[in-house]
Amino acid sequence: MEIDPWATEGVQNYKEICEKFGLETINPNELPSPTHLHRRGIIFAHRDLDNVLEARNAGRPFGVLSGLMPSGQIHLGHKMVIDQARWYQELGADVTITVADLEAHATRGLSLEACRKYAIEEYVTNYAGMGLNPDKTSIYFQSERPVVQKLGFTLGKKTNLSEMEAIYGFSGDTTLAHVQSPLVQAGDIVHPQMDEYGGLRPIVVPVGIDQDPHMRLTRGMVSKTNWFNVNSNKSGGITIGLSIQDNNTKVMGIREDSSIDNKQRSKVIDKVVSAIKKAGFSQINSNPKHGKIDIKDASSKNRNELRYHLLGLERSLGGFGFMQPSSTYHQFAVGMTGGKMSSSEPETTMFLNDSMESIEKKIKSSFSGGQATLEEHRKKGGNPDVDVAYQYLRYFFEEDDNELERIRNEYIAGALLTGEIRSICVEKATTWMKNHHELKDQNQQLINDFLE
Ligand code: TRP
Repeated sequence: MEIDPWATEGVQNYKEICEKFGLETINPNELPSPTHLHRRGIIFAHRDLDNVLEARNAGRPFGVLSGLMPSGQIHLGHKMVIDQARWYQELGADVTITVADLEAHATRGLSLEACRKYAIEEYVTNYAGMGLNPDKTSIYFQSERPVVQKLGFTLGKKTNLSEMEAIYGFSGDTTLAHVQSPLVQAGDIVHPQMDEYGGLRPIVVPVGIDQDPHMRLTRGMVSKTNWFNVNSNKSGGITIGLSIQDNNTKVMGIREDSSIDNKQRSKVIDKVVSAIKKAGFSQINSNPKHGKIDIKDASSKNRNELRYHLLGLERSLGGFGFMQPSSTYHQFAVGMTGGKMSSSEPETTMFLNDSMESIEKKIKSSFSGGQATLEEHRKKGGNPDVDVAYQYLRYFFEEDDNELERIRNEYIAGALLTGEIRSICVEKATTWMKNHHELKDQNQQLINDFLE
């Protein structure tokens, strides 16, 4: 099983994906003011979200990063990601949004000029209506932030063609621009941690499950740049290991002939020990020769905190000091015709620039979970799990869980008819859309603030 972030195929078995790729499931009850997406299991899995939540609880800064490919029309799936960014922003996060113009150029054959124009007219104008705070949001173009490309290049030292093949299924005829774009994207994801973009802090990337390969690649490369590995050990404590790399041999006490410079090694170990003490731990045992430090009074619960302190130390010694990015994963709403949603087939999805007539038409001809005849429907009831009108209420338009539950039960009981559930959806969708179009028009003057 593989996930291809560029293919349009949907993912079928979410549970299997979690197991195979080691994603953790999300418990909405552990989140501060969970949104309907969390409450309903639509955002269903994560990597290292605790790191972000711990930072928030400790009053430390944290950020959220998302990206958009400036091709195709903006649709409800994009709105879902911005809603998540806004939720994190309300919890205290800063927001960075990448316009992946280099990626679109590499994989969709668009010129950079076309990408820019398109990104602003189609996406940023709509984002302006979605309630992000422009003072805490920055939207940038990949092609105009050379540091993300440079970072992608540097991180690229920590992967190779075999890994790219294994993760993405690349092969001999894959263009090198295509190979490069996930590296640039890794640069996107990591660069907010650089001092000039906000400094060391957890960054969470809310994505569709199809984007997990990028997270796996990025997290893998980042962890390989870390100078101090923080891991749980067999006795329940934590072990810190020095990671010797091209750019830190001197600091780590390795001489040019590969022998250990004991004086320098002790120096770096002492620094690690004081960083650990600063983090509040005291039962520390070090083995300078093996480059290992055990902490007895720390456990896996303290891993993020220790990492945070050691990344700070790494920075002071000349390393990048990057945290692995966190991520959350959402499921996809079904396409409106019952199959997969595809932006190149307009009848399968709702675009944010659709007219009210078009929205109504799409919902009224959407795939239904109702029965073929009225009598049959009254007798057997409808199936909300495949019913597009119901699913769009669940994903996008009905915030109230009780109301949604009522609609669901009545539909299953056959009390609510296909035409009726569609009407509810039309009503809710057009109300939302009208409001969105108004907010969008009102907020056009914010666009330049977002782009700064
Ligand atoms: N690859 C993403 C897409 O296809 C766009 C993107 C670029 C992105 N950089 C990103 C997404 C960083 C999340 C984070 O839509």
